[in-house]
Order: sequence, then structure tokens, then C-alpha cells
Amino acid sequence: MKKILKRLAIGVAVFLVLGTSAVAIAVVARENRTFDAPYPELRASKDPAVIERGRYLVTGPAHCTECHGAVGDHAAERHLVGGLAFEVPIGTVYARNITPDVATGIGRYTDPEIARVLRYGVHPSGRAVLPFMPFTDMTDEDLTAVISYLRSRPAIDHHVPSNDFNLLGRAAKAFLLEPTGPKHPVRARVTPGPTAEYGEYLATTVANCNGCHTRRSLRTGAPEGVAFAGGMTVESHEATPKKFITPNLTPDPETGHIYAWSEDAFVARFKAGVATGSPMPWQAFARMTDDDLRALYRYLRSLPPARLGQEL
Ligand code: HEC
Ligand code: HEC
Repeated sequence: MKKILKRLAIGVAVFLVLGTSAVAIAVVARENRTFDAPYPELRASKDPAVIERGRYLVTGPAHCTECHGAVGDHAAERHLVGGLAFEVPIGTVYARNITPDVATGIGRYTDPEIARVLRYGVHPSGRAVLPFMPFTDMTDEDLTAVISYLRSRPAIDHHVPSNDFNLLGRAAKAFLLEPTGPKHPVRARVTPGPTAEYGEYLATTVANCNGCHTRRSLRTGAPEGVAFAGGMTVESHEATPKKFITPNLTPDPETGHIYAWSEDAFVARFKAGVATGSPMPWQAFARMTDDDLRALYRYLRSLPPARLGQEL
């Protein structure tokens, strides 16, 4: 999110210099620009095992429920009716209703259209979605499971307001916002298990640990710090305005936050699910299996030690 906002700040400075009327015309002409991206050939399954895997991802590591669930309700099976408003400098952005309702939810979209939003950041309407969701490299198997679970839920008619962009936001849509696709070739599946390899997949592609625990340029969003070395400022949604600095998750003896933690202590911290008012989705992560938590720990322990917020 910060990424766009800062690129935006630069863009806006440029507009002011160029003169507002020309810019206003350009914005109007370009703000509804659409993008092409492939439609993943994935179909929802009715297989209970696939749906169960999807439920686990949605309510656990991928924490879709934290953003799309009924506002203020952290229960596991809360309905994915959307409505949570993110007040950002470009305006107000709403997490959508992702129940199968045809009028107000994802019932109006095909499976490949939903898969494309998550993998390529391109909405069924062709617009770029704002980069709130880090799932571009999710495997075919997991993306299928997520969509299968969403399709299995009751349809709930719940209208979520359209995003409300201010001039800055309209300018961003016109000039700066581009969809982001997968960083790696698409994988069919990654074998789950308490391994560092699987931990890497969870940390970077499903649970977004690296999104918050890595320092980024406020201007471009590009990493400025060593991955997982923390030092990034993240704002809490529930306790606004409240800024948190993320801890260092690499095994640095002095500044590594979990350096002295045993694997069991790490698992226990997550299972306890104690939220700290921070933006970290502790309630969803508390639903992770022991194996997944062990995979995360083993992956983090395998990283080269770096100092808190260490520059690249
Ligand atoms: C950090 C918050 C966050 C998380 C986590 C999150 N979403 Fe979203 N999602 C959003 C926001 C905000 C939008 C609206 C973006 C926009 O309009 O540009 C959105 C849009 C969507 C859309 C487009 C729906 C429409 O009608 O436009 C789908 C589908 C979706 N999310 C599914 C998911 C799934 C599935 C997960 C979990 C695997 C998930 N989201 C996790 C915040 C989140
Ligand atoms: C939305 C941002 C965000 C995400 C995503 C996130 N974290 Fe955090 N994390 C934070 C912040 C902020 C803190 C400091 C405040 C707190 O303890 O909650 C923190 C704290 C921690 C702590 C220290 C907790 C303690 O009790 O001292 C650990 C360990 C941790 N995160 C690991 C992870 C792992 C592993 C993941 C991915 C599964 C992850 N985080 C995902 C923002 C995030």
C-alpha cells in the first residue's frame, strides 16, 4: 500500500508543476484504464478435502477473514461480507463482499476471473486492484482450494460502497497504479510439511510475513532493508493512529527478536493468539497448524542473520 502512496506523492508533485487543467483532462481520460492478464484455468471443486484446505487458508495463514470478514468480528467462520474501510491518502478503499451473492458478492464472477484478481491483480472489470493482497505466487492447488471454499459459503446480500478516490487517488489510478503479477513461474503445488521450504512459501506467498517484517522505501515500496530483518513501520487498523515497528525475525544474536525463542515457544506464542492491538493478524494466525508454525520457524532460522532494519 505504502508503495502506491509514495509513488503517488511524486506523481502529484509532477501534476502540480504541469498545471492542473491539463492534468484534470488527462486524469479523466485515463483514470478508468483497464489491463490485460491471463485467466488462470482453475475451477472450484466440490471435494470436501479441497474445500477444507480452502477454509484453513482463508481463516488461517492467508487471513482473508481479517480484511473481508464482518467488521470487528474475529470469529473463525464469520461471513466474508466485506465492508472494512481502509482510510488511505488516496481516499477510502473497501474490502469487498466475497460471499457467493450474485448482486453484491463474487457470485457474478467466474472462477478464472476470481483467480485472476488474486494472481494478477486485475479485477474482472479490467481495472488494477490496489495491492492489499500478496497472493500472486500462490500455487494452483491452493488458489483452487481458496475459490472452492468461497463458493461453498452461503451467499449474503451485503452491499459494500464503491471505493471513494480523491483527486490524488484518481491521479494514481490514471498514471501510477499497475497490476502486479507472479514473481516466479506458477507452481502447481508445494508439499506442506514442517520444512524450511514450505515455511518460505507460507512466509512470502500466503501469510505476508515479509510484507510487514521487511523495511521498504516509502517512495517506491521496493525493499530497502534485508528481508525479514524488520524495522518497518506499520499502522494498526483497529487502533488508529497507532504506529508499530516490526521486529527482526532473522536469527541475529543481538537484535533478532526470536533469537532466544525455542521452536516450541514460537508455536505457543502463535497458538495463544494474543493480539497486541498491532496490525499483525494474530487471531487468524492462531489457527495455523503446529506443522505450519514449525515450518515458519525453521525457515526463519535458516535465514542469514541481519541486524534490525539492516540496509540492503
Ligand atoms: C490486508 C487486507 C486483505 C486481505 C488479507 C485480503 N483481502 Fe481481498 N481485498 C482487500 C481489499 C482492500 C480489496 C479491494 C481492492 C480494490 O478495490 O482495489 C480486496 C478485493 C478482493 C477481491 C475482489 C472482489 C471484488 O468484487 O472486487 C477478491 C476476490 C478478494 N479480495 C479475495 C480475497 C481472498 C480470497 C483473500 C485471502 C486469500 C483476500 N482477499 C485477502 C483486502 C484484503
Ligand atoms: C500486517 C503486518 C504484519 C504481518 C502480516 C505479520 N506481522 Fe509479525 N508483527 C507485526 C508487528 C507490527 C509486530 C509488533 C507488534 C506485535 O507484537 O504484534 C509483529 C510482531 C511479531 C512477532 C513478535 C511477537 C511477540 O510476542 O513478541 C513475531 C514472532 C512475528 N511478528 C512473526 C510474524 C510471522 C511469522 C508472520 C507471518 C506468518 C508475521 N509476523 C506477519 C506485523 C506483522
